[in-house]
Amino acid sequence: MKKFDKIYKYYDGAIKFFNLNKKEEIKEALKLKGDEIVLDVGGGTGRLAEFLSPESKEYYILDESEGMLSRVKKASNVFPVFGDARNLEFEDLSFDIAIMSDTIHHIKNHEKLFEEIARVLKPNGRLLILDFEKYNFKTRILRACEFFLFGKTYFMTSDEARSLTEKYFKIVDFIKKGYYYIIVGEKNV
Ligand SMILES: C[S@@+](CC[C@H](N)C(=O)[O-])C[C@H]1O[C@@H](n2cnc3c(N)ncnc32)[C@H](O)[C@@H]1O
Repeated sequence: MKKFDKIYKYYDGAIKFFNLNKKEEIKEALKLKGDEIVLDVGGGTGRLAEFLSPESKEYYILDESEGMLSRVKKASNVFPVFGDARNLEFEDLSFDIAIMSDTIHHIKNHEKLFEEIARVLKPNGRLLILDFEKYNFKTRILRACEFFLFGKTYFMTSDEARSLTEKYFKIVDFIKKGYYYIIVGEKNV
């Protein structure tokens, strides 16, 4: 059983309750044209997919939790995929966009994660990261809750996340919003 299999039934409710739903900002930062193949890494219950897939050609939700994936709402262009983000079973250069929303800090071995995402993205493909500022007060509360629920997590500051992203991508957007941040990187050709 994976970490989120314990809480998948309550996940979407908790996101609403704690006001962690940043889908409008993600959409604005992504600027989808409608013809993109999207990989939502750690895409969970598909709450972003529901919002973004109508503006995508194909939308893949990759997650290691069968419970989370069981909540995904069916749509003709939405494909839930069970797997580990550090060992993706996709061909090289498969995707136009990769999204990691509230996901990075749950995954150990960030280098392997980024290598895999860079591998499956097409040249000029974009990666969007949304995550939480490690030392912010609100994040400290979230970290405590997640430690209680899941054990160790891997939070970064926005500057640490930016430096890591820059090893693989050109930064095209870096938005600091207090307790959370959004980074958009473009894969080098
Ligand atoms: C906090 S949830 C975020 C879900 C979704 N991205 C959102 O914004 O609502 C983190 C998700 O990452 C998934 N996850 C954690 N480690 C993973 C890994 N190594 N490979 C794939 N998914 C993983 C979890 O199962 C969980 O669904």
